[in-house]
Amino acid sequence: TRTPVNVTVTGAAGQIGYALLFRIASGHLLGADVPVNLRLLEIPQGLKAAEGVAMELDDCAFPLLRDITITDQAATAFEGANVALLVGARPRTAGMERGDLLQANGGIFGPQGKAINDHAADDIKVLVVGNPANTNALIAQRNAPDVPAERFTAMTRLDHNRAVAQLAKKAGVTVEDIKKVTIWGNHSATQYPDLFQAEIAGKSGFEATGSDLAWIENDFIPTVAKRGAAIIDVRGASSAASAANAAIDHVHTWVNGTPAGDWTSMGIVSDGSYGVEEGIISSFPVTTKDGKFEIVQGLEISDFSRARINASVAELVEERDAVKELGLIG
Ligand code: NAI
Repeated sequence: TRTPVNVTVTGAAGQIGYALLFRIASGHLLGADVPVNLRLLEIPQGLKAAEGVAMELDDCAFPLLRDITITDQAATAFEGANVALLVGARPRTAGMERGDLLQANGGIFGPQGKAINDHAADDIKVLVVGNPANTNALIAQRNAPDVPAERFTAMTRLDHNRAVAQLAKKAGVTVEDIKKVTIWGNHSATQYPDLFQAEIAGKSGFEATGSDLAWIENDFIPTVAKRGAAIIDVRGASSAASAANAAIDHVHTWVNGTPAGDWTSMGIVSDGSYGVEEGIISSFPVTTKDGKFEIVQGLEISDFSRARINASVAELVEERDAVKELGLIG
């Protein structure tokens, strides 16, 4: 029998946690033959609700679920962690300035980065879901100097999956016919969903969607970028299940690899590729294999795409400068 993998989830009692934990425990995160231990980190007010979720996890009698730990101590939660999903974050409330938001999240992701540095397993892989995801990931990464920087990633897979779904609808094909979609930049309204590199049922993304620049600019890009708000409008609650699904996809792809002839989108530490400032955590097209990823190189970037990538990267640089100013990173 295989040794269980330790999976830490923060914000475990929240909406995304509720949609996420059952799928981790049923084998969708790592594989149907990989047993898991769950380590749930909550703030003290969230512990009781996390106990309730753990009761339900017990009641599923998942064959792969070995052990559940519930704690408000980061050191305990990250002890021996192989995979960490950082979901809990301080949301932006009405009237909150960006500086206050970054400060509050720095108070969460700084200490969690340090706890990962000091307690996690050598092969730790971190996905930050809690917003502002890219900059929270940067804060955690910079507080974990002993962990290779590439182990800290931010989630843009929900945006990626949203783009795939929109393209399939527009082109009248199934999602399996859509390859090589990219989300560039920040997981925010400035993100750039790029269909110019995409392949749709053997055609280029541009052709397959009617060679219609106005549709791309006025419909496709804003629909993907503002989808979160649209869900809240219609459902009356945030897109927790699709976010949890994207987190599962992100880690599964990272561990198990991208299919031949396709890639995915991940927020990762920039090495300067495509002119994206080195060191920030920005979304790129990546291929994954054997638990490692590589940025897809050599793509031709049009002026249309370049302007949008630059705008989103500029926002990330501003956020980086702001957290530096606040002393949250060195
Ligand atoms: P939620 O408010 O339902 O749950 C958050 C949970 O985190 C709460 O139970 C809270 O007690 C806990 N928490 C807060 N601070 C914590 C800390 N320091 N340590 C441990 N737990 C802590 O929120 P929901 O809907 O689950 O969303 C979570 C985050 O995910 C939000 O920041 C949201 O903006 C973000 N998100 C990101 C997406 C992405 O694509 N990257 C997509 C959707 C949501």
